[in-house]
Amino acid sequence: MRLNKFLSNSGVASRRKSDDLISQGKVRVNGKTVTEFGTIINEKKDKVEVEGKAVCLPSSFVYIKLNKPKGYACTANDEKGRKTIYELVKCEERLFSVGRLDYDTEGLIILTNDGDFANKIAHPKYAIEKEYKVNIEGEIKESELAVMRKGAVVEGEKMPSAKVKFLSYENGITKLSVVIDEGQNRQVRRMFEAIGKDIKQLKRIRIGGVKLGGIKRGDYRDLTPEELDMLVRGK
Ligand code: URA
Repeated sequence: MRLNKFLSNSGVASRRKSDDLISQGKVRVNGKTVTEFGTIINEKKDKVEVEGKAVCLPSSFVYIKLNKPKGYACTANDEKGRKTIYELVKCEERLFSVGRLDYDTEGLIILTNDGDFANKIAHPKYAIEKEYKVNIEGEIKESELAVMRKGAVVEGEKMPSAKVKFLSYENGITKLSVVIDEGQNRQVRRMFEAIGKDIKQLKRIRIGGVKLGGIKRGDYRDLTPEELDMLVRGK
């Protein structure tokens, strides 16, 4: 197996970032530093270390969908000591999330120990749709929706265009559906900030063909083979 694929499958980094680690001399195979991109290893026998830490492939792959509640961080060790999504999932394997949600965002998160899969699905090239339900206070004008559909400008930077649909207005709250196919940091919140609106509730309800469905807040379950297949095929 190529060394960069081994590192990606093990969850160290994407293949491209693994190549950077290799060229920076941070990877050792059987005690020797390797700097060649194309290095081939025997994944059953060779001992691989990254910055002195042993790296191994997971024994079997796990794919989970979690309904993340608001008030949980998506990092394994939160620097502010906040609760993390990893406290919600009982799993012996070292899991990582496919993309992240903000601390205050709730909804669908996919967790896996398959690094190659996670890196692939999160890659902008795959452009997998992410759908959010957004609640804001007050009404929204058609012209404001048009700005977000075209790509709002945030601090001089043009955001990618988004599919934005008005759903309802009731008791002073506007509900919208927002679909994006990139996953820039705080992308949906920044789009609304650009039109001067503060998001009251942000919930991800779909990633590609995988829907959050009826999973309760804080609960999770395995992806079905069909759901996994849709993601792998970029759907
Ligand atoms: N966009 C955001 O602004 N926050 C999220 O958590 C996800 C998408």
